Amino acid sequence: MELQEIERLIKISKEHPLMPETYIPWQQEPMDSDIFMPEALTSLHGLEIYDTLTPVQKLELGRHELVQVIASYAWGECLFCLFMTRHILTLPLDNVEHRFLLRELIEEFRHQEMFGQAINKLGGRPIKQSRLHHFFGKFSNKYLPADYLFMGSVSVELVTDIYGNYARKAPNIYPVLKKMFDLHNIEEARHIVFTKNLLKAYAAKAGYTKRTLYSYVILFNILFVRTMYVKKEIFERIGLENSDQVYKLAAKNFKTKFAETCLKDIIGFVDSWRGFNSATRWAWRWLLEAKV
Ligand SMILES: [Fe+2]
Ligand SMILES: [Fe+2]
Repeated sequence: MELQEIERLIKISKEHPLMPETYIPWQQEPMDSDIFMPEALTSLHGLEIYDTLTPVQKLELGRHELVQVIASYAWGECLFCLFMTRHILTLPLDNVEHRFLLRELIEEFRHQEMFGQAINKLGGRPIKQSRLHHFFGKFSNKYLPADYLFMGSVSVELVTDIYGNYARKAPNIYPVLKKMFDLHNIEEARHIVFTKNLLKAYAAKAGYTKRTLYSYVILFNILFVRTMYVKKEIFERIGLENSDQVYKLAAKNFKTKFAETCLKDIIGFVDSWRGFNSATRWAWRWLLEAKV
């Protein structure tokens, strides 16, 4: 990536910081007509059971699932900050990559605080990650080399960005959430530009085996994110019986919905360095229902 381009990204970050404290109208309470998540993104929309829910149950489903989404973002970003903090230690302080990553860290920490405040505002009770999520999150963060972790991070950023885009564009979304997603979208766009360009160089040098491994790292990161959203406990909270049964239906429904909504950009990215081959394509189709 051109030096000037990274300098430009650093300059924007410094000169146009978006402070969650002032950018988001925190004092605004939700109106009766406001929603917290577009219906189409909730795990039950599209199933017969969804039509049997009362308006209050639908609203509550969106609220709880949205809280789960942003709590997962925050956790993922926190893990990535841990990695970046270690990574910049390997780069001299005057190195341009080091300086960009410092800006990214500053922004990511602000995002986490913002997500936490939004959860509070919604009276949310995020459900903790499963032990498996915990294990993989920590393990990969600690032991994977930097290029693999950047691959993972850009895949999560691309996927969650699309999710946020749908949410912020919904006409009657609660304004606090709209502005939160706007802010995140603007700052993440810069992180994505930087990371994608950084990875282009890695991918250009990679042979068949390495491209296969990169592809799998991305696939598992996406799977990791997707499986953090749909929770049985949420169905219990909104008063559904047979929450086990509902969970099974919802997980399957969400898998398809997620594939249709969120995978386009990341598929384009993986395809750009020939990450789909006979060793990876089947797994993308099977685990993510990706059309590749
Ligand atoms: Fe972020
Ligand atoms: Fe980011």
